[in-house]
Amino acid sequence: MRKVITYGSFDLFHEGHYQLLKRARELGDYLIVGVTTEQYDEYRGKLNVMDSLMERIRNVKETGFADEIVIEDHIGQKLEDIQKYQVDVFTVGSDWVGSFDWLKDYCEVVYLERTKNVSSTMLRARKFNILRLGVIGTGRIAQRFYPEAKYVSGVNVEGVYNPHLDSAINYKERFGLKFGTDQTEEFLGQVDAVYIASPHETHVSYIRQALECGKHVLCEKPMALTEQEAEELHTMAAAKGLVLMEAIKTAYCPGFYQLLGIARSGVIGAIRDVEAAFTKLESPDSRELTDREFGGSFLELASYPLLAIVKLLGTDYTDLRFESIRDESGIDLYTKAYFRYKNSLATAKAGLGVKSEGELIISGTKGYIFVPAPWWKTREIEVRFENPEQNEKFFYKFLGDGLRYEISDFVAAINGNDKKEHKLRADESVALAGIMEAWQNARG
Ligand code: CTP
Repeated sequence: MRKVITYGSFDLFHEGHYQLLKRARELGDYLIVGVTTEQYDEYRGKLNVMDSLMERIRNVKETGFADEIVIEDHIGQKLEDIQKYQVDVFTVGSDWVGSFDWLKDYCEVVYLERTKNVSSTMLRARKFNILRLGVIGTGRIAQRFYPEAKYVSGVNVEGVYNPHLDSAINYKERFGLKFGTDQTEEFLGQVDAVYIASPHETHVSYIRQALECGKHVLCEKPMALTEQEAEELHTMAAAKGLVLMEAIKTAYCPGFYQLLGIARSGVIGAIRDVEAAFTKLESPDSRELTDREFGGSFLELASYPLLAIVKLLGTDYTDLRFESIRDESGIDLYTKAYFRYKNSLATAKAGLGVKSEGELIISGTKGYIFVPAPWWKTREIEVRFENPEQNEKFFYKFLGDGLRYEISDFVAAINGNDKKEHKLRADESVALAGIMEAWQNARG
């Protein structure tokens, strides 16, 4: 019996997939089809797969060509499968020519001609109009945004707004956008959604204007500086059927998401303490360290540590207090926020003028999880126990600057393909604004 194996995502099952499977089956007597998991696709940098794994498997099954279906969930699995199932022929479409020649040591490798003019990517684009996105603000983070958005299908960054026209034009030219403007109405009229990366204190009014014009919003952290404003904005978005997402990239990245599952699984027992730090030295004359009202370590940097605390322990803390080291002008160079929950404690550290280890430690009754710096780009975690022989490390992909994950989830949410809304819920975003507000009240 001649066994053939092939692999794919088979998203939005189409004629190209059908023809590929048909011809693959004809190469032998028995066809095994490997279908990728969502996590593996994410790992491969293939974001925005729309159909669930079960739907994709069902579609492959319905062709009647597959004698057996396996799930592909890790790199290196192809070779394992070829040996395990004693495969004679490995085949994929001609878009992969050359990529699998190394398997020729183990079996025959056949590249089948790809069916013309159809692909999942094309169908995804056709199913939903390409989202026209506009960027508000042109600073450091906005500069990182454009290249990251390129990795996400279904979205095109069309234009940019900045109250200083020169900056808008510079950004437009740098990234080859369609337009750059200092007029908000003109800007909002040409986009379906906005990404806000302007100074913190301007977020709320931009969000309000965008929502009023029926635009979806992805807004940099901290989205709002008072609980009431955050609440109002989320309520307004929900009432208008628009997506409003706070852009804390860590919340959407695969490693952090997996970490939450592990921490909550009981493997370290009940969570009793969360300690999270984020420090980034800035020069004393930077905006961050001179803007007495909207700068300072906590407002600038605490969103990441607070995200970890709120995701792991929830929003019902019973006590919150702050300790800071300040410069002569009163701006906080370093702030620690201490939380008490019913049965646990948490600390968030943020520093623009004090450098510390950027680690996350989640302590439980049976063990703890250590996430080394930079924990907010979660690539590696270690579950540790009293007996170090039981320690276990896990590794994850965090591609590029990591903004692609939040952009991908934002687009998915707008397209109604939102299985990930829980990654940073509205009530959590409101709680984060409440903590920022508590800090401003406490610092005076
Ligand atoms: N395939 C094909 N002809 C097409 C599209 C895909 O023969 N028009 C083949 C691929 O070469 C691969 C298999 O079908 O062997 C599964 O491909 P997959 O990546 O799931 O499909 P694509 O449509 O290429 O997906 P995407 O656009 O997301 O890359």
